Amino acid sequence: MPEDRSFVPAFGNKPRRLVGRDEEIAGFLRGLAGPPGHRDRATLCLGQRGMGKTALLLKFAELAESHGFVAAKATAGVDLLVQLIEGIQAAGSKYVPSNRRFTGVSVGALGFSVGLSFTDDTERKASFRAKLSLLCQALENHEKGVLLLVDEVTADDEQIRQLATAYQELVGEGRNIAIAMAGLPAAVSSVLNDKVLTFLNRARKIQLGPLPLADVTVDYFNTFKELGKSISVDDLGRAVAATMGYPYLLQLIGYYLLEFTGADSEISSATVDLAINTSRTAMVDGIFTPSLSPLSKRDREFLEAMSLDDETSDIADITQRLGVTAASAQQTRRRLIASGVIIPSGTGQLQYALPYLGPFFRGTL
Ligand SMILES: Nc1ncnc2c1ncn2[C@@H]1O[C@H](COP(=O)(O)OP(=O)(O)O)[C@@H](O)[C@H]1O
Ligand SMILES: [Mg+2]
Repeated sequence: MPEDRSFVPAFGNKPRRLVGRDEEIAGFLRGLAGPPGHRDRATLCLGQRGMGKTALLLKFAELAESHGFVAAKATAGVDLLVQLIEGIQAAGSKYVPSNRRFTGVSVGALGFSVGLSFTDDTERKASFRAKLSLLCQALENHEKGVLLLVDEVTADDEQIRQLATAYQELVGEGRNIAIAMAGLPAAVSSVLNDKVLTFLNRARKIQLGPLPLADVTVDYFNTFKELGKSISVDDLGRAVAATMGYPYLLQLIGYYLLEFTGADSEISSATVDLAINTSRTAMVDGIFTPSLSPLSKRDREFLEAMSLDDETSDIADITQRLGVTAASAQQTRRRLIASGVIIPSGTGQLQYALPYLGPFFRGTL
């Protein structure tokens, strides 16, 4: 039997079916349809690990391509700006004939040697902003806009600062440009870099929460039906509930349901139990271990102290349990929020940011 790719529990991939993000997509498309410089042309997707930020950016890229844009996606890091420029050149080259030199139509066009390749001089000397402007102009001549996609943004980043400045200047020039970014919610709560923060704060924000369970139900139902697998209403409901609407768990549980069912035509109750349990354990390797490994002993002790509470913890209780000063507990709290492991909920209240983190620390996963 060929390997079934209905569900792929991995990060940063494009899911076969993007479930439950219709509103987010509609909003993004409205931005693209708006005039250059429209506020909605800058989008910022925020969500915890595994909530589907990267998957949504990939969807945006695909949609933009069919709406007259050339899209380049890059991950924040030292060579972000180089990645973006090269990404636009690669994605846009098919629209720009490479067999003729640009002649002096505009000053900008002079920066190119052939197609979207810069002259050596431009390549070496032009700033990111200048190169981006040249590419926008060249693509506008072919009725194409430019969409920049930046994954894993943080406010405290020199490259993002340059990107923010360049984007605003190009908008000022009336270029047909748009930007979509994604990051952990805490990435924009930093106050280290005001200029970037202003840029990020002005963007239209998409807070990615859990997927509606009704949409997960429809997705599982249709997928199993297509594959000729039956499942009882009750078992389907249990599998859906166990995903908690969390996209990564949707993929994990769906994957194990099919894996354990094998060639059988029925997804049994026992298989559902096994798939749910296996997926919870897989969360440890897939999310908990990488999220927790950069944390210090003190951070982990803080997280363990939270596990005595049901859903929400009070910082005062945690401080007392740890036997530390209030200032020290506040410092740990801030660090854990910044790394996306906990989220503030109301004054002095805290919650784990990821499903099943409570049972994990309680040892009942
Ligand atoms: N809306 C969705 N519907 C179905 N699967 C999704 C959806 N969003 C994300 N996924 C899947 O969930 C997993 C985690 O998504 P990803 O985009 O990598 O999360 P993030 O970037 O927020 O950490 C991936 O396997 C991805 O394919
Ligand atoms: Mg991601």
